[in-house]
Amino acid sequence: MRFPICITSRRVVRVLFAAGLSAGWVTASAQSHHVAPVQPVAHLEVDTSVIAKPASQGLYGLMTEEINHSYQGGLYAELLSNSTFRGNWMGVDNWTEVVRGDAALTAAMDRQDGPSAALHSGLVLKVTAASVGNEAGLSNSGYWGIPVRANTTYKGSFYAKVDGDVGPVTARLINNQTGAVAATTHVDLGGSGWTRYEFTLKTGEVKTSANNNLELTVARPGTLHLQLVSLFPPTYENQPNGNRTDLIEKMAAMHPNFIRLPGGNYLEGDTLKDWYNWKETIGPLVDRPGHMAPWTYWSTDGFGLMEFLKWTEELHVEPILAVYAGYALRGEHVKPGKDLEPYVQSALDEVEYVTGDASTKWGAERAKNGHAAPFPLHYIEIGNEDWFDKSGSYDERYAQFAEALRKKYPQYKLIATAPVKVKAGNEPDLIDDHYYKSPADMFALVHHYDDAPRTGPKVFVGEWATRSGSPTPNFGDALGDAAFMTSMERNSDIIKIASYAPLLVNVNPGAMQWPTDLIGYDALTSYGSPSYYAQCMFGGHIGDEQPQNSITGVDPNARFFYSVTVSSDTHVLHLKLVNATTLDQPLEIALKGLGAGAHEAKLISLHGATFQATNTIADPMAIHPVDGVLRFAGAVVKHTVPAYTIEVLDVPVK
Ligand code: AHR
Repeated sequence: MRFPICITSRRVVRVLFAAGLSAGWVTASAQSHHVAPVQPVAHLEVDTSVIAKPASQGLYGLMTEEINHSYQGGLYAELLSNSTFRGNWMGVDNWTEVVRGDAALTAAMDRQDGPSAALHSGLVLKVTAASVGNEAGLSNSGYWGIPVRANTTYKGSFYAKVDGDVGPVTARLINNQTGAVAATTHVDLGGSGWTRYEFTLKTGEVKTSANNNLELTVARPGTLHLQLVSLFPPTYENQPNGNRTDLIEKMAAMHPNFIRLPGGNYLEGDTLKDWYNWKETIGPLVDRPGHMAPWTYWSTDGFGLMEFLKWTEELHVEPILAVYAGYALRGEHVKPGKDLEPYVQSALDEVEYVTGDASTKWGAERAKNGHAAPFPLHYIEIGNEDWFDKSGSYDERYAQFAEALRKKYPQYKLIATAPVKVKAGNEPDLIDDHYYKSPADMFALVHHYDDAPRTGPKVFVGEWATRSGSPTPNFGDALGDAAFMTSMERNSDIIKIASYAPLLVNVNPGAMQWPTDLIGYDALTSYGSPSYYAQCMFGGHIGDEQPQNSITGVDPNARFFYSVTVSSDTHVLHLKLVNATTLDQPLEIALKGLGAGAHEAKLISLHGATFQATNTIADPMAIHPVDGVLRFAGAVVKHTVPAYTIEVLDVPVK
């Protein structure tokens, strides 16, 4: 399957004529016959024949966790919320009784009777009166609505146990506003005891809408026990228990190289008992108990470790596997030594589950779960943000994990989440640094790594974002992000990998816990923020070498940033230019090593009128990359970067 590229809509191709082919500076503003004030001309010199430093071509990846309804109500295509009937003091969230005409029922949880040891409870519907046309049952409103589209097949299932004879269960997709039925089917309950039933609902020529619910009803009195009710729309590549296609395609367009999983704070949990116990997230859904996630809502773990791994496969990337290291968000930690051993063993087992062949215990378990082939792996991260652990236990906790992991898996690189004092041989290969900054603070950070030591552990910027927009970043944030990306690329001899966070947000009221997230969506559609497009541009255009380069004529305090890498295989120079000022920046770019003839470079630009300018679910493409071509002769290009603009220039250098 070919992924769409980032620049999909309104493909405006601008042809800019530069030195030798035009009379002078040509800018976006000049095209509109507006003479804008400009900065003095700056001189950028790149010598493509001298490689100064390596660059990390695999720099950009994704970071993920269950936050902002990233999976439930997001990537994970399950349409029903609270499919396992978690209760609270008000009842059972997201489920409503349905009583038509003179039907009657009572609904209550039975905490002792469920289809499995993991799901040992069920919702009991005691229907005392019901008949055809006067049905009783319940309905689920999904995650801020159930999306319904024309001529679409939805796959449903539930576990049920019947006392008496309630007849078939009728499943219907119903529009909340009009009551119109978009699809109906009947499910015969022939099994004895707890049995899993499947059904499909097929819509006809209905209007696309998110404002629907799923109804399950019966037309005879009796008692119906229900658990694990599920409904899926078509998923990416039609995978069962799969993902939303639009979101996978958006991520693919970022050209990521890895997914750091499963968190973030999601790995740790609020208290020690809430840790990400991956063994409880694999296998049949009915054997997954679910767990309380730190971002205030319950995770069914329908999106568990195997789903994370399949997601990496869908994107053709590798996992960066974060293993739980015995620290909980409220400050408790597991004592290093004997108490920590079970967690170290869990990490070893987890690596075996991901990478072991089918002759290993956990490799065999993975094969049983439907994936015979091992997944590729290069990095293991020990914990998350352990600098928060003020007890100072991380040195020892890290060392205990590192020793065991290195002994069994010497081939993997280990990432520590804070600097550690450990004995020689146990040092981490990388340290995970996190940055959440305002635009101004992000601009100020761009030289942070320039003078950092080139010896010792390398750097993983495992979480970073410029934050001011909500729910998704605005153009000012995109400028901060792009500035920081130039800095990461320039320092990518030590910054090997980096991932923006958080990645996803359901933009419906109440769904978000963390403002400023890269990609927004509701039940029906999704959109990329200006920062998302900046990431697409940077991720899709990065080389493995840094040619010698220098700039003069730019005030060091001015918000103008650049980075330059070359792909040694394609011989394309990728020049990133970020003008975060209100003035156009004319540049004279000397590309030493380029021949005398005519050249044609690809130019991609992202422009916003103000820092506040942004994309929204209602106006998803207000800011988007625009493709252009820059033609020039000889080795000097005159090019102006307009105010508030991020550009990528791809110049073939051979
Ligand atoms: O990205 C949101 C949160 O920020 C992550 O869960 C955590 O690691 C960090 O503090």
